[in-house]
Order: sequence, then structure tokens, then C-alpha cells
Amino acid sequence: MGGVLKGEPEVELQAGVPVDGPDLSVTVNGLRLPNPFVIASGPPGTNYAVMAKAFQEGWGAVICKTLSLDADAVVNVTPRYAQLRAFADREVVGWENIELISDRPFEAMLDDLRRLKDEFPDRVLLASIMEEYRREAWEEIIERCESAGVDGLEINFSCPHGLPERGMGMAMGQDSEMLTEVCGWINAKATVPVWAKMTPNITDISQPSRAALLGGCEGVSAINTIQSVMGVNLKTLRPEPAVEGYTTPGGYSYKAVKPIALAKVMRVAQLIRDEFGGQDKSLSGIGGVETGRDAAEFLLLGADTVQVCTGVMVHGYPLVKKLCGGLQQFMSDHDFGGIDSFKGSSLQYFTTHRDLVERQRAAIRAKKQEGILNDAEWTGEEFTSEAAKMVANK
Ligand SMILES: Cc1cc2nc3c(=O)[nH]c(=O)nc-3n(C[C@H](O)[C@H](O)[C@H](O)COP(=O)(O)O)c2cc1C
Repeated sequence: MGGVLKGEPEVELQAGVPVDGPDLSVTVNGLRLPNPFVIASGPPGTNYAVMAKAFQEGWGAVICKTLSLDADAVVNVTPRYAQLRAFADREVVGWENIELISDRPFEAMLDDLRRLKDEFPDRVLLASIMEEYRREAWEEIIERCESAGVDGLEINFSCPHGLPERGMGMAMGQDSEMLTEVCGWINAKATVPVWAKMTPNITDISQPSRAALLGGCEGVSAINTIQSVMGVNLKTLRPEPAVEGYTTPGGYSYKAVKPIALAKVMRVAQLIRDEFGGQDKSLSGIGGVETGRDAAEFLLLGADTVQVCTGVMVHGYPLVKKLCGGLQQFMSDHDFGGIDSFKGSSLQYFTTHRDLVERQRAAIRAKKQEGILNDAEWTGEEFTSEAAKMVANK
């Protein structure tokens, strides 16, 4: 693991617990994770082999690739990824995908989840699920996932491509009224914690997040991918990724999306603080994380856990050792003994632009009252009062 991660500190993990250094454990909606790093729903959670590898390497929790009852309706194409590269060494900074949810038979994925819980009973496993607008379908998928032993559910209300054509994913996640209703069905049925995974492809993410939390969800996960078109091939004139010469807008991820993800996470954290305080509502931050320092930023803005998808596709499952090492380094630098010592502590520094102007005016006034700091500041009009202000023994 070289490149951008060269020199990142790394720590040995035993069942996800660092053998040394500050405590990274978190408890979210009653689920105890040895560290806050969660495999996000996507290719790193597609089957038993990869999810077992994630637990072995020490990931704090795993969320499987999104499941639906009828996998036959899910047909993937290839190529389905396109990368944005930058700088002289053509480093990957952005990633577009037009991949759908899991195309494996639902029963096969349930067997995998069951086997994982048998072999890793103390580790946290969530099923990501998505269904159409039909109460019985949601009830069936929840019942069958719970019977496989999963510890929680993440609802994919946010896939930006393919599924919205069938009224699923982002199509549902943009409609607050429908969300409250569907979350009501889901939470009347579910007996484990439910996180609603939200789309960033909306101006104000607090609206659907509020609807999901009012509908009984224990947590919000943000963000899913951002709708994107990677580019147009200037030789063929075809947009990328081209499948038989055509494409469809996809979802953008990896480090280029981190500033957008942080803004959305900040907004949801404010919502939870201001409208759901004391109700044990949780927030899982996602988008562009590949170092422990990236994760620290999400935690400082109020996330309880941090998910990683594309970072694992680029760097592999051992990345978690560097994520934990980097986060511990940040915590040691500040003498933080645990995640609760700093979680959400940067959220207080967001305010309105009008307030920024006021604060700046007040700072300038205060500075003037302190007196003349260098000779260029003497004004002429206020000359005598400026001199008087600096007299010590008035
Ligand atoms: C190839 C690929 C497939 C994905 N599939 C899913 C999915 O099935 N369900 C889901 O909720 N999110 C899916 N995602 C979104 C990720 O879980 C995550 O929200 C997003 O990529 C941003 O995080 P990242 O920058 O760490 O990748 C997928 C992302 C990628 C790159």
C-alpha cells in the first residue's frame, strides 16, 4: 500500500481492537464496534469471502452490498466504472460507477450472512436492503434478513442510477412524504436498528433525513454517490463509461467527493443535535475517506461511525490498519482518550454568513480598542484618542 498512504501510521488489530494506543471503540444504537470503520455497501460486501476478509482484517462493522428480493431483475453491464485521474502521477481522485445493487440470488446472500454471523458472532453485520413501494415486500425482506441474524439494517434510499427507473433508491429518497410512510412500514416490522442511507443529490439533505428519523429510523447514513458523468472521449465522441457506445449518468465517489460529503454530514448532524437530541439517533459518515485524518474530520462534525467503499477498492481490506493508526495518531496529538472526547466538537463552529460578518466587525472593533499595533494604523482624525487608549496609568 504505497502512493498517497505512504508514511501513514499503521496499528495491529485483534478482532478489530488496536493492540496499543487510544481506545477506538464506539457504541451506536446499542451495537458495540471495536473501531468506527465500517465497510460501506458496495463491491467490498458482495459475498461471504470478501466480508469474512473484512472481519479478519479488523473492520469495525460490515454492511453487505444492497439486497432485494428479486435479484433476477438486476442485470449489470461492463465496463461500469470510470476514474478521474489527476496530477503528474495520474493518481485516482474520483470514481464513477453505473453498478446496480447485488445481482446474487437473495437466498444465496442470506446463506452468506448466516455463515458470517456463525463464524463472527461478536462482530457487527448489517444488511443493506432496497425494495419497491410495496409494504409486503419490505416486510418480507426485513423478516428474512433478520432471520439470518444480522445486527442491523441499512435502507438504500439513495442509489442514483438504474434503480430510480423502477421507483426505487434515490427516487424514493427524494420524496419526503413517501419516505415517512415507507420508514413507518419498515420500523413497524424491524426489531434491529435501522439506518436510512440518504442521497446527496438533493439541495437540502435535512428534509429527507428528518422524514426518515420521524419515520422511526435509528440512524442516517450519508452520503451515497453523487450523480455524475465522468467525461466524453474526444476520439470516439462517446461519453464514459461507454457500454456498446452508450452510457447513463452514474454515481461519483472517492476523495473528490469528500468536501461535499462533509457538508451533507454537517447538515444532518445539526438536524440530529437540534431536533432529535437525547433520542439516541446516530449518523454514519461516508464519502472519500482513505486516511484516519479524513475519518477524524467526519467524527469532528458529528458522525458516530465512518464508512469506506472506494478506498477499499483502491487500497484493499488491510487499509483498516492505517485508518485506525491514523485516527489514533490524531487522538494522541490532542490527548483524546476516546472518540467521545471529540465527536461533534467542530460542529459548533458553523454559523450563518451574516454572523461571520458580525464577528469580523466585532474583532476589528476589539483590535482597535487594544490600541495601535504598528505606525501605519494611526488615523489622524482619532489621533489623540488613539494615543490616550494606550496610556497604562490613566
Ligand atoms: C462500485 C460501487 C458500488 C456501490 N454500490 C452500492 C450499493 O449497492 N448500495 C449502496 O448503498 N451504496 C453503494 N455504493 C455507494 C457507497 O457505499 C458509498 O456511499 C459511496 O461510494 C461514497 O463512499 P466512498 O467515497 O468511500 O466510496 C457503491 C459505490 C461504488 C463505488
